[in-house]
Amino acid sequence: QQKRIILSGIQPTGSPHLGNFLGALDNWARLQQKDTMTYYAVVDLHAITMPQDPKVLRQSKHDMAAALLACGVDPKQSVLFEQSKVRGHTELGWIFNCITPVGWLGRMTQWKSKIEKSHVSHAQALLETSKSASLKMGLFDYPVLQAADILIYRATHVPVGADQMQHLELSRDIAALFNSSFKSKYFTKPEAIIPPATKRVMSLRDPTNKMSKSDPSDLSRINLFDEPKVIQQKVNRAMTDSVKGISYDVDQRPGVSNLINIYAAVTNLSVDDALKEMADLQNSQQLKQAVSDAIITRIQPIQAEYVKLQADPAYVQQVLKDGAAKAQITANQTMEQVYKLVGL
Ligand code: ADP
Ligand code: NA
Repeated sequence: QQKRIILSGIQPTGSPHLGNFLGALDNWARLQQKDTMTYYAVVDLHAITMPQDPKVLRQSKHDMAAALLACGVDPKQSVLFEQSKVRGHTELGWIFNCITPVGWLGRMTQWKSKIEKSHVSHAQALLETSKSASLKMGLFDYPVLQAADILIYRATHVPVGADQMQHLELSRDIAALFNSSFKSKYFTKPEAIIPPATKRVMSLRDPTNKMSKSDPSDLSRINLFDEPKVIQQKVNRAMTDSVKGISYDVDQRPGVSNLINIYAAVTNLSVDDALKEMADLQNSQQLKQAVSDAIITRIQPIQAEYVKLQADPAYVQQVLKDGAAKAQITANQTMEQVYKLVGL
């Protein structure tokens, strides 16, 4: 019986928010089980596809590692590491670059939406020669690096949000393409682990969009390390509607439904059971009070743990160093096989 091998990553850009926690990080902790090998990466090489200040980036990596530990990633059960410290990611990424058709990347919807925003065509974006052009090769190509991130550990399962499904498909296609190109059966296609839709947290200001780090309005999201008072203020200002009472209807009442989803997720209840608990609430003001109380109760232990970890930076750095050393062993084994198959 093959062990499950799980790989997931998060970019060290900005503070993790409630959506990251409920949709991803909380699940990372739960996925640590006896028959499972879990690799969790702070994907710094992905972060530099957008311009970063080196000092800020270094600090953000440390903070993100501390946040992951605070969320329950356990270095005794998981390999927690910085992507750039394991050379195999870029080495395998290069091998994959040499077999992946450009057209496969041109079809990625995230790339397409980025070029739309910059008002150029795909061809113009690829031919752009000016130094100030905002679209870089790395941004175009990063799904190939993601395929390498996953396949270097021969991961069998990848927890992904719905927005990343297309990239996981690409990884599966690249695994198959490598096998057919080099007449091998070396890579197996990784499967997705998709969180339930109710774990998708929407923006507090515009509940038709997901809560995101890249939203310019800080009021749109609850950061995992916001103070209780700030959390209360943000939830109080969340957009709801003028319909009377509390009811769950994602299409007609997206704001109220988002708050109910959040309540259900932080209290580990189904939406139905959460609604039963809320039967006495009369209006959205009371709903907001219940939701912010529930969020605060749930994340307070994580915040306390984070404060402890930030008081001991040497410990966090040691965890990352040990993690990279462990990851390196598997990555080197994979690269040895890959180089042999490719003829290098
Ligand atoms: P962001 O969009 O805020 O920059 P990332 O792209 O870094 O977040 O995502 C990190 C992880 O968190 C991914 O697994 C992603 O699916 C998950 N995630 C991001 N935003 C949300 C959200 N609003 N609700 C649920 N999960 C989310
Ligand atoms: Na384990």
